[in-house]
Amino acid sequence: MDMHFDVIVIGAGPGGYIAAIRAAQLGMKVACVDAWKNKDGKPAPGGTCNNIGCIPSKALLQSSENFEQAKHHFGSHGISTGDLRMDVTTMLERKNQVVKSSNEGILYLFRKNKVQFFNGLASFTRAVDGGFEVSVAADEAVTLVGKQIIVATGSNVRPLPNLPFDERVVLSNDGALDIAAVPDRLAVIGAGVIGLELGSVWRRLGADVTILEGLPSFLPIVDQAIAKEAKKAFDKQNLKVELGAKVREVNATEAGVTIHYTDSQGQTQSLQADKVIVAIGRVPNTEGLNPAAVGLQLDERGAVVVDDECRTNVPGIWAIGDVVRGPMLAHKAEEEGVAVAERIAGQHGHVDFNTIPNVIYTSPEIAWVGRTEQQLKEQGTAYRIGSFPFMANGRARALGDTTGLVKVIADPATDEILGVHVVGPQASELVAEAVIAMAFKASSEDIARICFAHPTLSETFKEASLAVDKRALNF
Ligand code: FAD
Ligand code: NAI
Repeated sequence: MDMHFDVIVIGAGPGGYIAAIRAAQLGMKVACVDAWKNKDGKPAPGGTCNNIGCIPSKALLQSSENFEQAKHHFGSHGISTGDLRMDVTTMLERKNQVVKSSNEGILYLFRKNKVQFFNGLASFTRAVDGGFEVSVAADEAVTLVGKQIIVATGSNVRPLPNLPFDERVVLSNDGALDIAAVPDRLAVIGAGVIGLELGSVWRRLGADVTILEGLPSFLPIVDQAIAKEAKKAFDKQNLKVELGAKVREVNATEAGVTIHYTDSQGQTQSLQADKVIVAIGRVPNTEGLNPAAVGLQLDERGAVVVDDECRTNVPGIWAIGDVVRGPMLAHKAEEEGVAVAERIAGQHGHVDFNTIPNVIYTSPEIAWVGRTEQQLKEQGTAYRIGSFPFMANGRARALGDTTGLVKVIADPATDEILGVHVVGPQASELVAEAVIAMAFKASSEDIARICFAHPTLSETFKEASLAVDKRALNF
């Protein structure tokens, strides 16, 4: 087999596999190398997102939400469930099946698009005439040569100092997706996206969950009106979040953990739990890549340094996704992958970093696009706000899920929408409308004058847009 390629993509997470497919669509000869294997030793393309991230976490969120609904909400519909029980093994098997079908789907897409896939760890060896040599440590080691390289090696978990993950008692996001039985007491360190999502899963299934967060404010990256509403809902669910908690020491044994910390009042506290999930952010990953062999520049965080268009300091080598600057989100990685493939083909690939949506898949969901009110204040930018509560939306009342609100922020001079923030039912889907509006530079008046189907949750976006001009109709 000829091992010379137009493009070699290193990593088959959402950034890498999408970049490989797009490059192949554009007529290039493409190889994609990925090291991930599943528990049976089979290739498992899809990266963090598919194997231990977005997809399995959403599978467990769905199962646990179904359980929560049956336990606490079916009764109000007149549905009785009798003796309701959760079989965690079946739930985990379903989750594994969802992951496996995505792995297989990506392998199918590679075949369909004639992307040559190699399952092994890729390392730069050297620059050669007109490209780069990459060795792949697989069952049968191979050496590939690519004219252009796209580095999409993603990110890794970040442990607390002196507290290695054993994935039995001290869990990373990986182990947190595979707990064999619902623990009585679960501690989580970090009230970020992973802490809240996975804390929610096990809380819904019956664990007593306490999340220790180092910062004094709750979800500082989220618009604070939305964060406040979400916090109220989590308090009601007894998903306990302790802010301003400085973890001093964690003692872990097979029997459980004791976490010694200082609380926001400066008092020494200790928390005992059966297991702890450490979710304090993730770090860019270039392990095994040997970037020095080609002089690839990394920053102090270990991220590959890139410009706005994902060019590294080495002409011909590009980098995308979690291994570079910017939010660690699957869809951001995908967009960068498409744009880079198009740039290599001489086209004008583009990513609009201002309209990348964010979603936290708790219940209620939290989703937003654009700038928060606190960011606008800090920047000294003038703004107008319109808010609309789900309580005033007929569909939300029919669903029996009226927590939360939609908040639209617009420029007072031009009325262009600057940000849309949602906490409430199906916020993850609703935010897509806001993304489209912002991508097309819509004003709040544009949205206020669009006809939305009734009764739908999306009417809240129209009403919040009307509220910017103080003329909401249903509130
Ligand atoms: P990755 O998905 O990390 O993929 C990198 C791949 O490269 C891996 O398969 C790795 O094995 C491979 N690799 C690394 N080095 C080498 C090498 N030298 N040779 C060969 N292969 C190599 N994001 C969202 O947008 N929505 C969500 O709902 C969401 N949920 C998440 C839930 C959890 C629990 C976690 C941990 C993350 C979640 N994320 C979510 C973040 C998302 O998973 C990442 O942003 C996304 O996976 C980044 O994609 P990537 O392609 O850059 O890297
Ligand atoms: P995160 O950055 O969202 O949250 C980490 C939290 O831990 C922060 O609130 C931080 O203040 C806190 N923290 C840090 N050190 C601490 C310490 N020593 N003690 C107590 N608290 C501490 O990171 P997280 O949750 O680990 O997720 C990693 C990345 O994965 C996120 O940046 C996100 O982009 C991505 N992700 C995205 C999801 C989504 O889009 N729905 C879901 C899950 C993860």
